[in-house]
Formats: sequence, C-alpha cells, structure tokens
Amino acid sequence: MRLDKLLCDAGWGSRREMRRAVAQGRVTVDGAVVVSADARVDPALPVRIDGQDADYRPHDYLMLHKPAGVVSATEDPRLPTVIGLLPPRYRRRGLFPVGRLDRDTTGLLLLTNDGALAHALMAPGRHVDKVYMVLVEGPLTEADRAAFAAGLTLRSGEAFAPAELSILSSGARSLARLTLREGRHHQIKRMMAARGHEVQSLKRVSIARLTLDETLPPGAWRPLSDGETALLRAPSAALYTK
Ligand code: URA
Repeated sequence: MRLDKLLCDAGWGSRREMRRAVAQGRVTVDGAVVVSADARVDPALPVRIDGQDADYRPHDYLMLHKPAGVVSATEDPRLPTVIGLLPPRYRRRGLFPVGRLDRDTTGLLLLTNDGALAHALMAPGRHVDKVYMVLVEGPLTEADRAAFAAGLTLRSGEAFAPAELSILSSGARSLARLTLREGRHHQIKRMMAARGHEVQSLKRVSIARLTLDETLPPGAWRPLSDGETALLRAPSAALYTK
C-alpha cells in the first residue's frame, strides 16, 4: 500500500498533507524515516507520524456511550451528531452508527466503517438481541410481560416479534429490562404506548454479546478490544439467532 494513502486512510489528513509530512521526514516505517510518499509499505509494519503510531487498520470499531441530545447520524443540518463526538482523526474515517437510537435515547452505540459487519448485525431477519433498560410511567404488570412475549400488534395492524420484558420494579414509575430482536423506528416507545405506558427514559445496554462499558460516561467512546470485535465478527447464525 502507498505510504501517503495509508496515512490518509488512517485519518491523519488529506493525501496532499500526508505527502508533505512524508517529504518533511516526519514519518517512519519500521523505525526508519521514509521520505518518498510513493513508497509501498506493508500495512502490518509499524508506521509512525510525528512520533505517534499511525494506527492504520482497514476498519474501525468504536463503542460510544451515546448521550441524550445527539442524533445517530453522520451529518445533520441543525443538531449535533454522534460522529461529532469523535476527534478529527476519526471523523475522517467514514464511520457511521450501526442502527439508530432516538435523540433522547442513551447507551450503547457501535460506530464502524465496516459495512459488512453493520449489515450482519442490523439487517432485518438477523434477529440480533438488543437489550434496553426502560423507565416508564405507571405500573408494569404480568399482563404487559405476557403481551410483549406473545408479540404485540398495534391498532394499525403493525405486528412486532415477541420481546422479553423483565420487570425490575413496578409503581408510579416502573423499570424493566427489555430484549428486542428487531429494530424498528421508535419501537419501544410505540410498544409501550400500545400498553398505555409513556417511556420516560431509554438506555441500550447490549447488542448481541457486546455490553456497554459502564466506565464510559455518556459522550465517551473507546475502540473495541480485539476480543469484542471478534465477538461481533463471529458467524451471525451461531451467535445471534435464538
Ligand atoms: N426504541 C425506541 O423507541 N427508541 C430507541 O431509540 C430504540 C428503541
């Protein structure tokens, strides 16, 4: 791979800026300064720019603790986006959110530039478990649990797949853990509304076997570990389908 392309793809700047950086002797490959931006390098070798690991990898996989108030989009004319929470180097990497959370929903959001993985996780029919903590108005009951388990059908005729509602507390406000295997627009809010409950807050805590790192405060992110990435890459049928 050409050195200027590798640096550019790794998000360090434009091709032109990278050619200049290389010519200025700011880039090393395997410990040696390389001044030709056309040089072909093995991406497995350590490449450094201004003393920092260039950290080239074909794809990025980040876990974001999505805060309320930002939209799950790469661009928005009016509102802050989840991509805007990342440092500039990552903003140049073509990352996008895997599925959407509503603006007021918090919790686990995966950001990647690996379209195949995003498809494997989110395509309809993949049945990947997504687990949410949901706080609603009013008491949740066994009848609610049974209705979710049976698969809710709205008055409009729209039918949802069975979902697992585990009631953690019930009262004027109730807390539950809800596992969905599909991801439709405002799904939980609409399911809860159909049972007469208004959602007060919603937080996603896991997707498939990947769990939100609770040491990340809202708005913070980190790359997935190799183990976490491997979990997501494993054959979907074996891992995600129940
Ligand atoms: N269901 C919703 O209603 N909103 C979300 O953000 C996710 C699931």
